[in-house]
Amino acid sequence: MTSVFLETFGCQMNELDSELVAGQLRAIGYQFVDRPEEAEIVLYNTCSVREQAEQKALSRIGLVGVRKRAGERVILGVIGCMAERDGTDIFRRHPQVDFLCGPGELDKLPHLIDSARRADLASHEGATERPSLAERAALSGNKSRRSTTLAAAEDNLESLDLSRAFDPETTGQPRHRAYVRITRGCNKFCTYCVVPNTRGAEVHRPPQHVIDECRKLVDLGVKEITLLGQTVNHYRYQHGVAVTASGEEAAQVGPGLSVFRARGGAGTTTFADLLRRIHDEIPDLARLRFVTSYPRDFGDDILEAMRDSARICRYLHAPAQSGSDRILRLMNRGYSVNEYIDFVDRAFTHLPDATLAGDFIVGFPTETDEDFAATCDLVRRLPFKNNFIFKYSPRPGTSAFSRLADDVPDPVKRARNNALLSLQSEVSAAVHAQLVGSTQTVLIDDIRTTRSSQRGRNHIGLITVNGASVVEQASVSQSDSVSAQFVGRTSGDIIVAMDCDSSTDFGHHVGELASVFITRASPLLLHGRLSVGGPTASS
Ligand code: SAH
Ligand code: SF4
Ligand code: F3S
Repeated sequence: MTSVFLETFGCQMNELDSELVAGQLRAIGYQFVDRPEEAEIVLYNTCSVREQAEQKALSRIGLVGVRKRAGERVILGVIGCMAERDGTDIFRRHPQVDFLCGPGELDKLPHLIDSARRADLASHEGATERPSLAERAALSGNKSRRSTTLAAAEDNLESLDLSRAFDPETTGQPRHRAYVRITRGCNKFCTYCVVPNTRGAEVHRPPQHVIDECRKLVDLGVKEITLLGQTVNHYRYQHGVAVTASGEEAAQVGPGLSVFRARGGAGTTTFADLLRRIHDEIPDLARLRFVTSYPRDFGDDILEAMRDSARICRYLHAPAQSGSDRILRLMNRGYSVNEYIDFVDRAFTHLPDATLAGDFIVGFPTETDEDFAATCDLVRRLPFKNNFIFKYSPRPGTSAFSRLADDVPDPVKRARNNALLSLQSEVSAAVHAQLVGSTQTVLIDDIRTTRSSQRGRNHIGLITVNGASVVEQASVSQSDSVSAQFVGRTSGDIIVAMDCDSSTDFGHHVGELASVFITRASPLLLHGRLSVGGPTASS
């Protein structure tokens, strides 16, 4: 069996792509290994969103180059957003790369691997010619932006999602959580962002495909599904427009912006409709989440669907990016600070127990101290449970890169980054502190146990029963005591650590919901005590 090593960089979209790719390759007989040195084929699923993300992948690519130059036979494939953004130039700069595959072409990966292996064999037998570029690179280029509804209907990528082989036994992934893509690509063109170039135009999957996939995952034991889209709330499927040759509904290019002013009607499945359908048609799904929300066009219909559906998590990841109207305009975000605040107010009116999270970019071109102060004001004003904070990274191919000089010096970016991080940490601590004394329903993600004995504290192994880890109590002798820490998340995605020391606590399993009394809070997480009586049935 041919061995493959696959490492993933970047966002949840890439994590899901890697899972799908691995399933596809396993199904045709490839075997996955944990270390690149053990693999005949090394794949890096790359991210291009910031230069740093590319640097990480490039350093891995460099190491494979060292091995190849030392005479090792290993095939190197670069897949994902960096492959798409850099294109065949990668072959020139990194000749050790055998093939490239963009995120929109992953269904072609087996073919690319196959021809790279044939070429490797031929060169081993003395051939000097390399395969043609077409044999070595599957990239979308601008094609996906030009695609029509029909082209999306012919979209082979959909088959990759549809043939999903969710198999935690072989992947070692958590079995109680899964991602499901509802939209690919992005139509927003924020001026700093490579994603519309690397992932192409917004394409929406037919609702029935999404629901069938969710149901399949739940039947396999998944408790929490996160729906994925770059602007997930823009999901909108117009029935009867995109059909395959055999009359099936097919993936469909996203509609224009004007449609968001109107609610859906007969023949349209809006994001709110999709949420309600998944929630109502799959009652065994314990939790439904979604990321990432675009702060504009987030209608009350979505908030109402969330309010009416107890198992939809009260969590909104809706990046503000900046607290300065001038910078938001330069970023082409399409909303003002007041509009963002209105959206958050609306959200809390409908869902008083919701949590809010987001992203900010500091040091965007021309950002002054006043602009940055406005960002700090926004973070102080709204109850963000957390924010991911990034220093602006100029990306070739984006309009900010060609139109705006990267004029905020790096030390200033760094200082703003640190200042915002420490402000966010205060805000997080305050948001978390409000939950002390409450009882939260927590989905248990992990259990770590330690055994104290006369020899000191030793880690003891977990055993798995019906797919869930439980503490191996039988192995504990009278003189030893076991303590365990459970780690999980609230509906609002706040991490909770639970110390437990009574044997009744050990009845809780990974992937189950538990009632937890919150005893303490810190900026990063909550601490709590499991309620006696085992897992709860509610959300
Ligand atoms: N679609 C999502 C974000 C996808 S990229 C949205 O619009 O909210 C994830 C985050 O990376 C963005 O929210 C942004 O904060 C950050 N980011 C994107 N491009 C960047 C760049 N060039 N420099 C720094 N941060 C960037
Ligand atoms: Fe990038 Fe903006 Fe699209 Fe998000 S919405 S992926 S930041 S272009
Ligand atoms: Fe990176 Fe591509 Fe995701 S650029 S953030 S892997 S969509």
